[in-house]
Amino acid sequence: MLRTGVRLLALALCVSAGGDFDWTKNEKTSFYYGTFPTGFSWGVGSSAYQTEGAWNTDGKGMSIWDVFAHKKGKISSNETGDSSCEGYYKFKDDINLMKEMKLNHYRFSVSWPRILPSGLRSEHVNEKGIRYYSDLIDLLLNSKITPVVTLYHWDLPQVLQEKYGGWQNASMVGYFNEFANLCFERFGNRVKHWITFNNPWSISVEGYETGEHAPGLRMRGSGAYKAAHHIIKAHAKVWHTYDMKWRSKQKGLIGISLSADWGEPVDVSNQRDVEAAERYIHFYLGWFATPLFHGDYPAVMKEYIGRKSGQQGLGASRLPVFSPQEKSYIRGTVDFLGLGHYTTRYVTQKNYPSSFGDSYFADRDLAELVDPKWPDPGSEWLYSVPWGFRRLLNFVKTQYGNPMIYVTENGVSEKMPCTDLCDDWRMQYFREYINELLKAVRDGVNVKGYTAWSLLDGFEWDEGFSERFGLYFVDFRNKNKPRFPKASVQFYKRIISSNGFPSQREVESWKRKAVETCSSSNQLLAADPLIGHMEMVTEIVVPTICTLCILLSAVFFMFLLRRRL
Ligand code: BGC
Repeated sequence: MLRTGVRLLALALCVSAGGDFDWTKNEKTSFYYGTFPTGFSWGVGSSAYQTEGAWNTDGKGMSIWDVFAHKKGKISSNETGDSSCEGYYKFKDDINLMKEMKLNHYRFSVSWPRILPSGLRSEHVNEKGIRYYSDLIDLLLNSKITPVVTLYHWDLPQVLQEKYGGWQNASMVGYFNEFANLCFERFGNRVKHWITFNNPWSISVEGYETGEHAPGLRMRGSGAYKAAHHIIKAHAKVWHTYDMKWRSKQKGLIGISLSADWGEPVDVSNQRDVEAAERYIHFYLGWFATPLFHGDYPAVMKEYIGRKSGQQGLGASRLPVFSPQEKSYIRGTVDFLGLGHYTTRYVTQKNYPSSFGDSYFADRDLAELVDPKWPDPGSEWLYSVPWGFRRLLNFVKTQYGNPMIYVTENGVSEKMPCTDLCDDWRMQYFREYINELLKAVRDGVNVKGYTAWSLLDGFEWDEGFSERFGLYFVDFRNKNKPRFPKASVQFYKRIISSNGFPSQREVESWKRKAVETCSSSNQLLAADPLIGHMEMVTEIVVPTICTLCILLSAVFFMFLLRRRL
């Protein structure tokens, strides 16, 4: 009862706080020297399919990503996450890397089909899968690293996709809740930070609208909205389950990790551009955050999708509707907001005629632009625009009543051919983005932690291994998947040990020192093909020679026998 009262009060504050964001105040101020509040948590992240490998080991079931990646033509160079970084076998080594960095937390995800091979708890619980995560959690805690656990980082059990159509089907809400409940039961005595979904925007749009991601469906203009609707309900159900059944004993927090690029109006003095930028953010972050904080979709989404659906001659909006009961059920179901942020776009108004057809993208009536001067060292979508990060954080503060935030992802990639471990551009990216985060904290945004993405280079979804986000370089050519520190490891380590940026003199020396250490790693990496070569000798050349010897001796022996006879 008291909880409900508190939630209602929080809601009233949220609603009155909404819309205060000052679009005209974009202070691109100089670098700020200072530190984060005591207790600020520093971490790195990963996800199961991107790093674990062991795709069919120890009783694991298949996920939609196993199946999708095995289809020809879906992933760059037809690569798969079958073995990836072999994280399933190497987690002890990886925790040692984290210990060296003096990290406070590690964000990883649980593979649903690794512990429930058919997706359903009633059918079979794979104890070996449970053991793996349990050992990982224990070792983290022994190493004084807080586990932050994502329940769903995109790897739905394939059976649930085949039988029910995955997130198109409302039954996923119940199945996901059973899976989450199992995780609370087995790991909740040790895990206090739970993230239900990672980046539901991507699950919905790339999985069910464009089909670039698993399950690869192209249900334009409706599939993404339906998937998102079920995901929001599933999140809320899990939050309520935890609240009713586990919270008093386990005392943990349930959040969600939403991804959002910042959208800056091309011309802040043009009201149409400002509205277009606001729409861009509401169709991205607000699509999920507004129902979870305020109980319903952003008004602008309801208006635009409803109007366009009418013009297309549909009887109802393509955006599903929450009933009054559902609204109050989903409202206020985030104990903390996880934010994944990488980049920014300029946004301007652009009308799409209804003849364009059903499309999430056309529903927004806007165009995205980039400044050619923005650095773009890696993925083609990722431009480095640090000030957008501070803007986004302040927008969240004003829109959702200054919730508790953990930055759950932030980082930059490099393209595959780049094997230079002296990753100057990544150090620059971290330096500037984390500095904007510090400015946001000083603006009063309630950020409690930061997670660099990612610990290791990994399987980058439809891009395969062609884009590398890791602080550690992984040599995927070598069967042992050795890890090599990039210079940014040293750089990030300094930020962590200083809890920010203490002084200009010190910060300027960090990059120089980091580059000094990375040249020896470069030499080690350069030598690594030899390791691959040695493996070829032991695994191919030696067995072939032995077999030939045996054959020759057999022939020789037969020849001798025949001569005797
Ligand atoms: C995903 C990560 C991915 C990153 C970069 C994020 O939205 O959660 O898994 O590595 O984007 O593409």
